[in-house]
Amino acid sequence: MFHSKSIWSLSLTLGIVLSANAPLFAQTLIEQGREVSQKQCSRCHVIGDFNPTGGISSTPSFQMMVNALPDWEERFSNFFARRPHPAAVEIRGTPPLTQSMAAMVRVVIDIEDVDAITAFARTLKK
Ligand code: HEC
Repeated sequence: MFHSKSIWSLSLTLGIVLSANAPLFAQTLIEQGREVSQKQCSRCHVIGDFNPTGGISSTPSFQMMVNALPDWEERFSNFFARRPHPAAVEIRGTPPLTQSMAAMVRVVIDIEDVDAITAFARTLKK
């Protein structure tokens, strides 16, 4: 049986452990975002130094968006619903946003990847 005091000290300990690991957690999130972005978004987007001559020229680079668009964070938070992504990106566990026969080869990501991608994109801000 837990006493309220031990629950309190447990949550205090947990809080200290978690906050001490906050920078590590942030770093992990950025690395996860870098990996997903390079693997899943570089077919169309130039992503920092990863593929400077890659992507599709009509598609904005990550660094251009992050540095030039004041609302870039919002755009990244729901990019999968913004055209042309519904035809190309699918969030694992959710139905595809389009059933179009013309849909491209799909990129499949986890919803948690969206935060990670945004954290990584922030590192491209000058
Ligand atoms: C099939 C090509 C393609 C892939 C794959 C792709 N994008 Fe895009 N993305 C585009 C194009 C084209 C635009 C520009 C749309 C426009 O000009 O309206 C764009 C725009 C964006 C925007 C700005 C959206 C807006 O409406 O302002 C964000 C953010 C974005 N992409 C993030 C991503 C991320 C993150 C991934 C990888 C998970 C990704 N994209 C994968 C083609 C792609």
